[in-house]
Amino acid sequence: MAPGPARSAESRVAPFTLTIFGATGDLTRRKLMPALYALFSAGRLPDAFAVVGFARRDYDDASFRDWIGAAIREFAPDPPEAESLARFLRSVHYHRADFESDPEALEAYRARCAREAGWPANRFFYLAVKPDMFGPLVEGLAAAGLVRPPSAEAWSRVVIEKPFGHDLASARALNRRCLDRLDESQIYRIDHYLGKETVQNILSFRFANAIFEPLFNSRLVHHVQITAAETVGMENARGAYYDAAGAVRDMLQNHLLQLLCLAAMEPPAQMTADAIRNEKVKVLQSIVPPSPGCIETAAVRGQYAAGRVGDADVPGFREEARVRPDSKTPTYVALRLAVENWRWAGVPFYLRTGKRMAARATEIVFQFRTPPLQLFETVACVGDVCDLTRAKPNRLIFRIQPREGISLRFSAKRPGAAIQVEDVDMNFGYAETWRRALPEAYERLLLDVLRGDSTLFTRSDEVEAAWRIVQPLLDAWERHDIGALYPYPAGSWGPTQADCVFEHYDGDWHVPAAR
Ligand code: BG6
Repeated sequence: MAPGPARSAESRVAPFTLTIFGATGDLTRRKLMPALYALFSAGRLPDAFAVVGFARRDYDDASFRDWIGAAIREFAPDPPEAESLARFLRSVHYHRADFESDPEALEAYRARCAREAGWPANRFFYLAVKPDMFGPLVEGLAAAGLVRPPSAEAWSRVVIEKPFGHDLASARALNRRCLDRLDESQIYRIDHYLGKETVQNILSFRFANAIFEPLFNSRLVHHVQITAAETVGMENARGAYYDAAGAVRDMLQNHLLQLLCLAAMEPPAQMTADAIRNEKVKVLQSIVPPSPGCIETAAVRGQYAAGRVGDADVPGFREEARVRPDSKTPTYVALRLAVENWRWAGVPFYLRTGKRMAARATEIVFQFRTPPLQLFETVACVGDVCDLTRAKPNRLIFRIQPREGISLRFSAKRPGAAIQVEDVDMNFGYAETWRRALPEAYERLLLDVLRGDSTLFTRSDEVEAAWRIVQPLLDAWERHDIGALYPYPAGSWGPTQADCVFEHYDGDWHVPAAR
């Protein structure tokens, strides 16, 4: 019999103390605390737990609880019940300290942890701090004896936010620093896309349905497109971070390549963290990074200029707060990649992501080959007015967000005397099928850390393999300034030059359906 699933959604969570470093930041307010509260109110947290905010700002337990309570009321998907929120907040504490300037800060924190009788011994540290603090904090936690070896009775786990490294060399150095002090099994490198229901469903769709899996290969798939388009710009004071990061580090190296891995990987031998991550690493290792001499034919970078998104006029990237007025940071990137393995050799994968685009849409599109012979006329119709058009290939579309679902586009005979075919869609939508809101990615990810399941977190070799793929882009664009930076108006689908990644290949960008 085939092995059963590795984890049960209901496996128990042991009492724990969660320390959030950088606890007064946006991530804590918008994502972490609402997610923790959602877990609490769904009865998924144990009776005993403590959440400690560790930061410099002048709060105490009471004022921190007020701030967190307000955040939960503002950002929780469902309005919290007053009594349940009050119970949750009783487990929330504040530790005021400055880790950067005070070498004794973590030592003092260890002493406090030892004193606080109600703080359970299993320790979960969440590093929601500036990326250059990841290494020093891991070392500091180890030096202060706050993290215990994996063999210890009480567990210690460390969550590291993205970006993990700034390039391949710094990611390797950070991995070395972390792995000098911690075991890989204690490190949870977060990529919140992996916590999204629809992203997890890619594997379920591919490997739980015998009829689809045989389609996913170079014999039938013509090409694959992965799009993560956003309408947002530099809201919430993100200008300085984003100006230093850009689209390659912020989205491509992590979220888009993770989607590619799930779309392209082989079935794992078991549903275990390492079996799944092994398959993802193999995909990344099969990708040929764009060659330095040919960057311009495989990749396009762009930056948004002023424009209109929805009903609002918005400034260009260089006019945003805390962005350099002469910034050359790309806010858009499009790229063609080859996955040179047995299944996918010869199938181009096109990836694109951008800020301030025409619509918010994250999608994976598998475009299939056309039939060898066109027996029918294809028409495109508006009402009853039809025009002859090129045969449309079948497309299988994973809508990661919004309007989460899957659709399959195929040709069907249009009713009438003529034998003409027209495109139709077969649709599955989460909202129509399950009629309930999807859980937030952070709920799932926090729960997985508490259960000790690292399937949805990136492993050290995986993160390095992903950097290896994007490093030639960073070199070409940042070190050698090769290739233009194309402006595109905010509210568009990016620079028209992005079509060039299809040059010598047959294809064009899929336009996500208007919503
Ligand atoms: C984050 C990026 O990781 O993902 C942001 O830093 C981006 O720039 C965000 O906006 C997108 O996430 P989501 O869940 O809104 O698609």
